Amino acid sequence: MIRPIVKYPDPVLSKPTELVTDFGEETRKLVEDMFESMYAAQGIGLAAPQVGVPLRLTVVDLSNQKEEDGKIVLINPEVIVREGKQIEEEGCLSLPDIREKVSRAMKVTVRAQDLDAEWFEVDGEELLARAFQHEIDHLDGVLFIERISRLKRDLALRKIRKLIKAGDW
Ligand code: NI
Repeated sequence: MIRPIVKYPDPVLSKPTELVTDFGEETRKLVEDMFESMYAAQGIGLAAPQVGVPLRLTVVDLSNQKEEDGKIVLINPEVIVREGKQIEEEGCLSLPDIREKVSRAMKVTVRAQDLDAEWFEVDGEELLARAFQHEIDHLDGVLFIERISRLKRDLALRKIRKLIKAGDW
C-alpha cells in the first residue's frame, strides 16, 4: 500500500523517533509499504516519519528496484564510524524541488537491526553513505536544510512558503 509522503513543515519530521520494539507483522507491513511508497515517488531512501510514523526505521535502495538485493532495511540504526568528507547535492521527498549541496562523511558504518531483530553492520561509501546519513538524520528529526548555510536555508524556506501559498506544495 502506497502511503502519502509527509512534507515539511509537518511536525512529525522535526521530532526524534521512538525505538522499534515490535518485530512482528505490523513492522513488516510498514517496511513493505515504505518501499512501495519510495519507489512510487522515485526516491532512493525513505524514513518512517516521512510516512507519518515516528519510529526509528528507514529503508534505502539506490538501485530503485532494479537489483534484487538492492533493498536495505535499517531498524534502530546508528552511525558508528564516519570517515572522510563529500560535498554533493541532496534532495528529499519531504522537500520537493529543494536541492542543495550538503557536506557529509564519505564513508560510514551503520549498526542496525533487521526485520528479525538481528543486529548487523553495513558499510556505505559515496552515495550510499550520503543516503544513510540523510535517512538517519530524519530519525533524529533533522532535515538536510538544517545542514546548509543560514542564507541558503532562508532562501529555501522562502521558496517553500511561496509554493505553499500558490497551492503547489
Ligand atoms: Ni529526506
